[in-house]
Amino acid sequence: MLPVLGIMEGRPLVANDEPVLDPSRLPGHVAVIMDGNGRWAKARGLPRTMGHRAGVDRLEELIRTAAELPVPILTVYAFSTENWRRSRWEVEALFRLAEEVLHQRLDRFNQEGVRLVVIGQRERLPGSLQREIERAESLTSGNRRMLVNIALNYGGRADIVQASRRLCQAVREGRLDPDQIDEAIFASFLSTAGLPDPDLLIRTGGELRLSNFLLWESAYTELWVTECLWPDFGRREFLMALADYQKRERRFGRVSSQV
Ligand code: FPP
Repeated sequence: MLPVLGIMEGRPLVANDEPVLDPSRLPGHVAVIMDGNGRWAKARGLPRTMGHRAGVDRLEELIRTAAELPVPILTVYAFSTENWRRSRWEVEALFRLAEEVLHQRLDRFNQEGVRLVVIGQRERLPGSLQREIERAESLTSGNRRMLVNIALNYGGRADIVQASRRLCQAVREGRLDPDQIDEAIFASFLSTAGLPDPDLLIRTGGELRLSNFLLWESAYTELWVTECLWPDFGRREFLMALADYQKRERRFGRVSSQV
């Protein structure tokens, strides 16, 4: 159980070299752009794919820490619609790795009460990966401890386009009146339908952009970017991001209560 946060001169108190968090102010949904695997591998004279492989261990650690806190929903960016522009070798290696994760680590996730869902356009993914996704989703569908959305062949714009297409279809079939369409109805057609928007988006690797991740859903999300490369992003870095989030005042367009 985490002790309650104390603030000293604007800094969170730390215990055992880890930031101490306020359990009553944890985010309900954290999104993560896991960037920097290639740079991490290059710095060690390794092929880029070894960086992705090292990244899988950090992802597992992140899921375990989130489950323990708890942060009940994680959405992680594993492969974007733009990642097809990488070499065929790297793309295939990433898909093989995703398949391996779903196959070899599934029982562990399942025992820990994790529900796995894949968001993104899965039709273009290799058939064997699609089958592993279906198996993982159906095996973990009853788990309630935490939800992990893995964004695979996901793009925020593509998701908004597919939502618009299905919305138009519903109008054409007479199931939806265009005058009824509001933000909530539109959001119900996105691949994240039914989920709260992310409270916090973490990006490793230092780039200051969203890279087409959760464009609609991130309208009021707090952003936290670190230079730390994804294969170095451990429990302590995650807790630091959460401690920083807990210092923020979320206004959602309102005037500050401190003014
Ligand atoms: C970005 O780093 C990372 C990716 C495109 C892949 C992320 C994938 C994992 C962490 C593997 C785990 C997940 C699954 C389920 C497959 P980059 O290659 O762009 O790094 P760079 O910016 O240093 O080149």
